[in-house]
Amino acid sequence: MSAAPASPAVSMDAIAALAKRRGFIFQSSEIYGGLNGFFDYGPLGVELKKNIRDCWWADMVRRRDDVVGVETSIIMHPKVWEASGHVAGFTDPLVDCKVSKQRYRADQLFFSPVIVEGAVIGYVSALESERTTEDLQAAAETLKRKKAVQGKLEPVAPRDFTEAKPEEVPLVPSPATGEPGSLTPPRAFNMMFETYVGALRDASAVAYLRPETAQGMFVDFRNVVDTGRVKLPFGIAQIGRSFRNEITPRNFIFRSREFEQMEMEYFIHPDADWLACHEGWLRWCQDWLQSIGLPASHLSLHEHPKEKLAFYSRRTVDIMFRYPFGVQELWGIAARSDYDLKQHQQHSGVPQVYFDEATKQKVVPHVIEPAVGVDRILLAVLCAGYAEEDVTDDKGNVEKRTVLRLSPRIAPVKVAVLPLLKNKEALVARARELHAKLKRNYAVFYDEGGAIGRRYRRQDEIGTPWCVTIDFETIEKDGTFTLRERDSMQQRRITEAELFQLLAEQVY
Ligand code: GAP
Repeated sequence: MSAAPASPAVSMDAIAALAKRRGFIFQSSEIYGGLNGFFDYGPLGVELKKNIRDCWWADMVRRRDDVVGVETSIIMHPKVWEASGHVAGFTDPLVDCKVSKQRYRADQLFFSPVIVEGAVIGYVSALESERTTEDLQAAAETLKRKKAVQGKLEPVAPRDFTEAKPEEVPLVPSPATGEPGSLTPPRAFNMMFETYVGALRDASAVAYLRPETAQGMFVDFRNVVDTGRVKLPFGIAQIGRSFRNEITPRNFIFRSREFEQMEMEYFIHPDADWLACHEGWLRWCQDWLQSIGLPASHLSLHEHPKEKLAFYSRRTVDIMFRYPFGVQELWGIAARSDYDLKQHQQHSGVPQVYFDEATKQKVVPHVIEPAVGVDRILLAVLCAGYAEEDVTDDKGNVEKRTVLRLSPRIAPVKVAVLPLLKNKEALVARARELHAKLKRNYAVFYDEGGAIGRRYRRQDEIGTPWCVTIDFETIEKDGTFTLRERDSMQQRRITEAELFQLLAEQVY
């Protein structure tokens, strides 16, 4: 058998359709029309997500001597978010279209004046999700034609709407209506979800669903130092849900309002070489992404320019991933200085210090923070692994297969056990016996329904790396099975001991 790609580019629609069809991801509250920015994980999605989390936890916490874990509450004292700067500054610039009632993030809305022979003949706009520069160029040409203006268009670099001068705001057309005059100037919109704690519903009871897990680690810093026998440099890691009232949740699970983060705060001595430490974590994160199957060719780095750094950051570099909708942030690695501990020290009045045995001095450590979203990784592995191929069999027949090339480390099902025929008792009994044995340690699947080729295809589509077929040779000859590999579609004979060896080597 051989395979050739049937479709060169992967579309998000194809991935979302597979995710729904095979029970990876559903729209939340679908029977009520869904809720924008919220998603459910189905039986296979929940396994895939758990495997991503487990790999990260094993590599980030259990297999290291310098990182410990915590699990902190989602709702924390509201003063945490005052100290962290989120109450005042965790905002996105919001723009309303008064006619269509659509809302946009100003930094994702681009515009440009259309200039012909030195005169501005109007303005055009486009959203980041469209191909901005080309779209603006096309819109500029349309405007020129519509106004029957003669002369050459003068190119102007597009700006985002946060940079619009007050006099420009009424001139920029709304992307919804195509007409100017309905966009409001950008205003700060705080993305934290508010709730109330206790029976009262007044200002004194206001609390927030956490917008990041990081503050849990900062607030528990002293508790961990006092109880954890940790020595600088050391890290505190956490996996948990975060909530952001995103203005424009988009691109399936890429930007949602409820999502899961895996964050680690690595505390270092204030005199330590923070830049070298930052570089080290940047490399670690890239290597880790490749260890779960993301190809290096899809990854790149984006250094945040100094003037656009978050208020707490000395340096931030994002690991970017090439999604079908563009190159976007996957993992942010920030050097947060001593900002957070100092803020909590000031707001709580409790010293956030570490006693340095060597110098006999109390210091406030600095922090390097790798912060990533589980859902974004999950989407990346689906996008990188998805392929539609034309498969040619030995007789020259061509058929289509959809395959998810997931790393065995994270694949939701590691092995499918298939008796060649379901009406042969000996084959079924041996297959069930093997299935029960494998099940003790691995997620495995038993399937006896349909032609063997069809059963292989079903497993290809959900990313199962191996199928094991129990056939007559197994029963009548040497006890070996047919092992069929998902990616190469190659088949070979394998013993039970070799199968367990293969799994021990590849699933870790
Ligand atoms: N503690 C720092 C922090 O939270 P961030 O860049 O805002 O930094 C870290 O978030 C990571 O969390 C991002 O790189 C991304 O992977 C994920 N993330 C952030 N907002 C998200 C959203 N709305 N939906 C899904 N994932 C998100």
